[in-house]
Amino acid sequence: MRATRFVRERDAIRFSTARGLMRMILSRYLGISASAVTLVTGVHGKPEIGPSMRVPLQFNLSHSADRAILAVCDRFPVGIDIEEIRPISEDVARHFFSSRECSLLNALPQHEYMPAFYRCWTRKEAFVKAHGAGLLLPLDSFDVTIAEAGAPRLERLEGDDHPGDTWTLYNVDVPQGFVGALAAMTMGHTAQLRYQSLARVLIQDASLVI
Ligand SMILES: CC(C)(COP(=O)(O)OP(=O)(O)OC[C@H]1O[C@@H](n2cnc3c(N)ncnc32)[C@H](O)[C@@H]1OP(=O)(O)O)[C@@H](O)C(=O)NCCC(=O)NCCS
Repeated sequence: MRATRFVRERDAIRFSTARGLMRMILSRYLGISASAVTLVTGVHGKPEIGPSMRVPLQFNLSHSADRAILAVCDRFPVGIDIEEIRPISEDVARHFFSSRECSLLNALPQHEYMPAFYRCWTRKEAFVKAHGAGLLLPLDSFDVTIAEAGAPRLERLEGDDHPGDTWTLYNVDVPQGFVGALAAMTMGHTAQLRYQSLARVLIQDASLVI
């Protein structure tokens, strides 16, 4: 029971709430009770619907501070990330981002650095989570765009000459003070985000529908 491992009670409650609501939302998509949803952990740690359920439903959860967001898709592998904007040191970018991403960030005026940092972070994290390889995927083996304008893109991925045809990145609408991104392996198909907020609870359901 992972909730018992949290030092702060507040974090344990957030963890359990997000988990419980995730099961509830997934159960609605599957048309079964929340307790009947079978979840398994993929080879590299990504939670998935158990194969015994024989449904193609894909999902991914992210939480930050008191917010959580769940992406659900009936077709493509998805990854989602939400982050609360908090001050960070520039060493963090050097540690996690590719050299191209660092160059783009370092060229920005000071006041644009933080939002661009979090756009880069959430786009990268969403891609890692959609990809499913977890920590085995080197963070410098791919580049994301960091600009606010225009649709976000996966610009480079080692071993894939056309990563933008395979993967689609999305900005996600999140509360003020947070940044969110979603990645989906759309394989050239078009998909749109549809939002279903659960009012007054800590989870938001960003369904990706075709
Ligand atoms: C495991 C990992 C994906 C979690 O990310 P996080 O930002 O700490 O936390 P998030 O709230 O966004 O996501 C957590 C949820 O992702 C899901 N998850 C766990 N492992 C996952 C994996 N390997 N792939 C996709 N999703 C995963 C779970 O539902 C988890 O929820 P839980 O904590 O309630 O079990 C992340 O720690 C990781 O492996 N990152 C590697 C890449 C990295 O270092 N990025 C730095 C920024 S670019």
